[in-house]
Amino acid sequence: AEFPAREAPGGAFPAVRPRRLRRGAAMRRLMAGTRLHPAQLILPMFVKEGITEPQPVASMPGVVQHTRDSLRKAAAEAAEAGVGGVILFGVPAVKDARGSAADDPQGIVQLAVADLAAEVGDALVVMTDLCLDEYTDHGHCGLLTADGEVDNDATLERYASIAVAQAAAGSQVIAPSGMMDGQVAAIRSALDANGFPHVPILAYSAKYASAFYGPFRDAAECAPQFGDRSAYQQDPAGPIGEALREVRLDLAEGADAVMVKPALAYLDVLRQVRDAVDVPVAAYQVSGEYAMIEAAARNGWLDRERVIMESLVAIRRAGADLILTYWATEIARVLS
Ligand code: PBG
Repeated sequence: AEFPAREAPGGAFPAVRPRRLRRGAAMRRLMAGTRLHPAQLILPMFVKEGITEPQPVASMPGVVQHTRDSLRKAAAEAAEAGVGGVILFGVPAVKDARGSAADDPQGIVQLAVADLAAEVGDALVVMTDLCLDEYTDHGHCGLLTADGEVDNDATLERYASIAVAQAAAGSQVIAPSGMMDGQVAAIRSALDANGFPHVPILAYSAKYASAFYGPFRDAAECAPQFGDRSAYQQDPAGPIGEALREVRLDLAEGADAVMVKPALAYLDVLRQVRDAVDVPVAAYQVSGEYAMIEAAARNGWLDRERVIMESLVAIRRAGADLILTYWATEIARVLS
């Protein structure tokens, strides 16, 4: 008799008892409205040119810059665990002003994506991030004008060429993250004109100029050498309509799915985007979200696995159909 119906001091007792549905693990499991499934998880992976051993990323314990070989193994493990997809970021040996390695057929991402498409491309979806920041010596996401501003329209031509190179190498989804105006349209028409009308675009549509990307810039070696990305990524304090507008524009330009990024600090944006569109919505649990939890757990300040699960459930509950997370393989194993 855990719930004796007892007269309260005023004579009344609660007839409505929400706790009835919280009694026991089996009841809670049945009633859980938010479920996580390994197939909804996407693992971001870094592959670096010219290294012979995987390199740990100091600010992201457990994450490495892969060699082509270790990347293959890690992708096979992700597939084995039931992860739905991987998204590749390349770190080239040589960077220049126009990011030449990004669309080189022999560039590191092109080689790595071909490896993975052959090896695990039937078991999970092999995607590529499309941006210039990992490839430019100045670290910005586009080409620069003489006075050091990002040249939107010249950058679109680069993005179009990179999309074709990635698709030709076997990328199964192109995910542009540079926040240039018109980038989805430019990429869509380049793919269509070059024999890749079947390759979908997952657009980083609502991407904020976030300090939560800090550790990623170590992993991808892409910190801007001057200035920041506030002139192309969204202002965290900007109106929510700005996010919805970016999403609508990307859909009008041909995006097949959209993304909100970062995740945990933008769950309100995620919910509004989910309610506004009829395409799959992804959320990116970014490097800083990962690093915060890992650091606190290392100090014994948080229960690592429970906090990871709670954060992923929150992102699902806010409306994400797909979640990009550096914990994808580990969590997929826990879930199955
Ligand atoms: C841009 C890109 C970034 C991330 C993904 N794609 C960095 C940036 O915009 O500065 C961040 C991902 C993360 O922090 O985990 N190519």
